[in-house]
Amino acid sequence: MFKFFVVLLQAEKNKHMNILVTGGAGFIGSHTLIELYKAGHTALVVDNLYNSNREALRRVAELIGIPEVPFVQADIRDRDALEKIFVQNSKIVNGKIVNGFDACIHFAGLKAVGESVAKPLEYYENNMNGSFVLLDVMRWHGCKNIIFSSSATVYGDPAVIPITEDCPKGQCTNPYGQTKSMLEQVMTDLQKADPEWNVVLLRYFNPIGAHASGRIGENPNGIPNNLMPYITQVAVGKRERLGVFGNDYPTPDGTGVRDYIHVVAALQAIERNAGLAIYNIGTGQGYSVLDVVKTFIRVNGVDIPYQIMPRRAGDIATCYCDPAKAAKELGWKAQFGLEEMCRDAWNWQKNNPNGY
Ligand code: NAD
Ligand code: UFG
Repeated sequence: MFKFFVVLLQAEKNKHMNILVTGGAGFIGSHTLIELYKAGHTALVVDNLYNSNREALRRVAELIGIPEVPFVQADIRDRDALEKIFVQNSKIVNGKIVNGFDACIHFAGLKAVGESVAKPLEYYENNMNGSFVLLDVMRWHGCKNIIFSSSATVYGDPAVIPITEDCPKGQCTNPYGQTKSMLEQVMTDLQKADPEWNVVLLRYFNPIGAHASGRIGENPNGIPNNLMPYITQVAVGKRERLGVFGNDYPTPDGTGVRDYIHVVAALQAIERNAGLAIYNIGTGQGYSVLDVVKTFIRVNGVDIPYQIMPRRAGDIATCYCDPAKAAKELGWKAQFGLEEMCRDAWNWQKNNPNGY
């Protein structure tokens, strides 16, 4: 399971925050909402539901125990819609109208690596333009705190393993990764130009799993691109067998090694007025494809037939992080191991064989 973990550490303990969550109906966003509310905060979700389902938000509300999660179905490229959200959520303090959002957690974006190679324009347009409009509207309304969902892909084929935040950004192998890398630069420059901004760049490694309840989880459209949803769909009988993309990498068993994690999202740095902060969000532990498959079979008692296939274009051998910086500065540490991730991913899939 993937305890979406929000390190909401505040300078003033128990300070309530109201957070704008773009892409909040998606996989990471929906889990983050639960942690936000658990920590005593509130949120408003803006999502165009391109890759998600309203049912996810209904279930999130049920898990939190509130009638509904505040939600506006809109595209973040739609400036008028975003303006309206900010205006409608502003408040009056000492006779002045002030912005009603303490921060934005920005998840909205297209994220399929392979698809981005086939549809570069759509990826650049959605991810770049969406973020430009969002940042501009935030700026005009005086909301200058953002947590951006970046990715380990910005390291390309990493220069060092485990990857620290100081590791140079590498050559991205696909348009999706390019958008993350460029948006990191845009937000870095923005913060440099206007130090009122607090920008946290979270470089997620491989989030997998699901909420322990089995009510929300990963629900990809079509054939899953990622390893874990593919495995769970084999387990549930929707797909015949897993293709393992390459067994000739320079890794212990020849299959690709990644840093699978159930966590995410940190607001602490913003509360500390961090300026610009970058964190790797991973466990520091690398597992191979076959490690994941074998653990899934052992923990869940279901068979996962697989066959070795050629390498997938653009893949790298090994990618896992050094999580020391997030641990030191945020007091954040991944809490669950691969067994829990496999158990909870399967719990979600078997209870929801066709997703939402
Ligand atoms: P997801 O597709 O489940 O969620 C993204 C959400 O954004 C979806 O609900 C989608 O409908 C919405 N969206 C997309 N474009 C939008 C737009 N223009 N306006 C409004 N809503 C829009 O993806 P996820 O796995 O939850 O990932 C969330 C973020 O984290 C993404 O930015 C992704 O690139 C990043 N990330 C994910 C992973 C991963 O492995 N899941 C790894 C690294 C980084
Ligand atoms: N794999 C298979 N078979 C599959 C799917 C994946 O063998 O059907 C292998 C891949 O070759 C790789 C490993 O499983 O070795 C993990 O692959 P994923 O597609 O699950 O994840 P990636 O590491 O390629 O990419 C993911 C997200 C990106 C994100 C990146 C950050 O998809 O959006 O993690 O590390 F940027």
